[in-house]
Amino acid sequence: MQEALEAHDGASKGKYTIGLGQDCMAFCSEVEDVISMSLTVVNSLLKKYKVDPKLIGRLEVGSETVIDKSKSIKTWLMQIFEKSGNTDIEGVDSSNACYGGTAALLNCVNWVESNSWDGRYGLVVCTDSAVYAEGPARPTGGAAAIAMLIGPNAPISFESKYRASHMAHVYDFYKPDLASEYPVVDGKLSQTCYLMALDSCYRQFCKKYEKIAGKPFSISDAEYFVFHSPYNKLVQKSFARLYYNDFMRNCSSIDDDAKEKLQPFSNLTGEESYQSRDLEKASQQVAKHLYDIKVQPSTLLPKQIGNMYTASLYAALASVLYSKNESLDGQRIVMFSYGSGLTSTMFSMRLNNGQHPFSLSNIASVLDVTEKLQSRHETLPEKFVDTLKLMEHRYGAKDFETNRDTSLLPPGTFYLTHVDSMYRRFYDQK
Ligand code: ACO
Repeated sequence: MQEALEAHDGASKGKYTIGLGQDCMAFCSEVEDVISMSLTVVNSLLKKYKVDPKLIGRLEVGSETVIDKSKSIKTWLMQIFEKSGNTDIEGVDSSNACYGGTAALLNCVNWVESNSWDGRYGLVVCTDSAVYAEGPARPTGGAAAIAMLIGPNAPISFESKYRASHMAHVYDFYKPDLASEYPVVDGKLSQTCYLMALDSCYRQFCKKYEKIAGKPFSISDAEYFVFHSPYNKLVQKSFARLYYNDFMRNCSSIDDDAKEKLQPFSNLTGEESYQSRDLEKASQQVAKHLYDIKVQPSTLLPKQIGNMYTASLYAALASVLYSKNESLDGQRIVMFSYGSGLTSTMFSMRLNNGQHPFSLSNIASVLDVTEKLQSRHETLPEKFVDTLKLMEHRYGAKDFETNRDTSLLPPGTFYLTHVDSMYRRFYDQK
């Protein structure tokens, strides 16, 4: 619980819960890591949707959690497919901070849309453990893995022409110390880079949309906006920023009251606009009623789990699918993916009810988010800190056994048992 962590860290009351907007944070115990989590989600997806492993023709993994500098996480997942005799699977890992999952997803979608497609499914896995050194960034950690099946006649289809990227060279968050799992972070710079990338993608996105659709795009043209979520406050600021963009573009969807409140900020330079606390407050206030409708449904899992790096955006999408599946037919969702360093893409998707087992209603029931959240176990901050200390020693280490404590893991979960003297890792399934 973030409330307990606030007290433990001596932060002022409300800093993590209201200031960052986070409720809880997940982390890996010593028996789980990005490999075990991805084995678990791939196995679970194939089983729950009864997909024959032979039907997977491409498997891509997005992750920024480095366990091995050469051997991809994808190769670990091949164990599942080798058993059924399928070794003909393209794809490896993609990595650039929180963006690797999106790179993997776009690769798979492009493959299915291409000449090279052999008629089988693509499978995308996003898996990360977000841990920070002691300090202000630590409460913005999290951990999760997500698996997504890509194929034709899907209930979620890409509007592939409506896609815009912003890529640049910055040092906002990076992992240069190969002996440590923790990143080097310039927190304030990373927030500004995120918002600048969002603006740039949105401008390009609107331009491309207008050229193709023959009319301007504004936030009223999508039912939901789903953002990469390092912590919820940045998502609130991001949506407010899109609203401010629409105001500056003179969109007819901005009402008179909002125009009046944003008028004082209409002459700010780009740089000034990122620094203006007053603009931040005013735009969040005028965008609040739309945030509640268009963004809030995507915030459930990110607020409960924390930053899941590559999985964060897709956990936010899963939150919308889970809570709104009955009313998504025909609707548009705009996604914004950000990875420090920096890479970012805004893209658009259209939804339809779909066919069983890939209907939105079945996806929602398989996700079973409420039950999964309720069955979590709360850990005291002291135990969380002890676990991170232990993992600091285990990172890059060889020749150790884990405690093999699987009491908190649901049946079917993969877990780490030991690492041998050659650094080879061994997993078992509960
Ligand atoms: N009650 C309510 N709100 C509070 C309180 C309180 N007691 N105390 C502080 N706040 C508010 C602040 O006003 C601020 O809100 P605002 O931005 O709306 O003004 C917010 O809580 C955070 O407080 P700061 O003092 O700005 O926080 P700090 O500088 O200590 O750390 C940061 C925040 C920079 C996000 C840090 O957690 C971090 O570095 N995280 C990792 C980097 C990151 O996630 N970057 C995002 C993009 S890159 C990526 O995805 C990794």
